[in-house]
Amino acid sequence: MSRRRANPRRHGTAVDGPPWTAEETTVLDRAVDRAPSVHDTRPWSLTVQGRTATLYEWAEAKQDRHDPEGRDRHFSCGAALANLVLAVRSIGWATEVRQEHSPDPPDTVAAVTGTRREAPTATEGQRYRAITRRTTYHRIFEPRALSYLTRETLLAAATSPQVYSRWVMGGTEASNVASLLAHAARTSRKDRSHSWELAMWSLGQPDEVPPGQGVPDDTSGSGGVRAAGSAAPAAWLPSEQQLGAWIGNESVLVLSTFSDGRHDHVSAGTAMQLAWLAATSLGLAASVITQPLHLPEVRSGLRERLGLPGQPQMLMRFGYPAFIPGPRRF
Ligand SMILES: Cc1cc2nc3c(=O)[nH]c(=O)nc-3n(C[C@H](O)[C@H](O)[C@H](O)COP(=O)(O)O)c2cc1C
Repeated sequence: MSRRRANPRRHGTAVDGPPWTAEETTVLDRAVDRAPSVHDTRPWSLTVQGRTATLYEWAEAKQDRHDPEGRDRHFSCGAALANLVLAVRSIGWATEVRQEHSPDPPDTVAAVTGTRREAPTATEGQRYRAITRRTTYHRIFEPRALSYLTRETLLAAATSPQVYSRWVMGGTEASNVASLLAHAARTSRKDRSHSWELAMWSLGQPDEVPPGQGVPDDTSGSGGVRAAGSAAPAAWLPSEQQLGAWIGNESVLVLSTFSDGRHDHVSAGTAMQLAWLAATSLGLAASVITQPLHLPEVRSGLRERLGLPGQPQMLMRFGYPAFIPGPRRF
């Protein structure tokens, strides 16, 4: 269940018609609860009043070392917002979404109002149903390319007026991305207390790293990294060359925003989740990489080397799962 506030603040447009019932409110709550979040912190809360659902950022979920600017927290809230809007559509209401800018109250993410009766579209229905099936997939994908149509569908899902997305294309771009990710890993490794953040790519699992490859761990143990929600045990990171080859063989999307404030991060998180749900509904698996992009030089490097128009916020990898992920933990 999402955390509820004792004293909900009122938001929203005056709208005619019945308030949402307890059952409808439960649908919204469950959908929000199932959004992906950094280290599964679910850094949000939800209140419902009348036909307005208001999503708040849960500031207590701060991760000062890992995420001093709150980028991942904002992305996570954006993912929750995507689920909330789809849930409102699934119960048959057209939505009005107001993303809050003002610092008063500071932690409001958005208020979503059901304005009038309107059935969901087929695409919205598919994405809503994918909410419970979506999981993070850190493993190697099947060696099977995504079709042009599939890639276009994912690209469209990850694109909005605030978010520009594009695929990493070809060997040179893959090498450029790999060298920036390797830089992030090296930087992170210098900080022992930060060692659980080492996971930067999902493929560096010990049984999948060929002998003699990868970067041997010399600064931290491997325990606990997976438990912390990170992708790879700290004992193994792929070499830059190996990483470049992997990136080149996968479908890797880079999501960027035109500016770099909280609102942009939330929009990027929403686009991330819509692409993830689109992928899930197509039988694909995905994972998200944000940690390396916490470093400003990695963001500026990606912008320059990929010729991006704004601020890169995250990478997403998509593919056909080589094994079927287990059920989600709820
Ligand atoms: C913004 C964001 C950042 C994330 N960062 C990482 C990460 O650095 N390493 C990792 O292994 N998983 C990461 N994840 C995946 C979460 O750990 C995962 O979503 C959460 O544990 C819930 O699991 P599920 O996605 O399978 O439902 C991230 C997810 C989000 C939304």
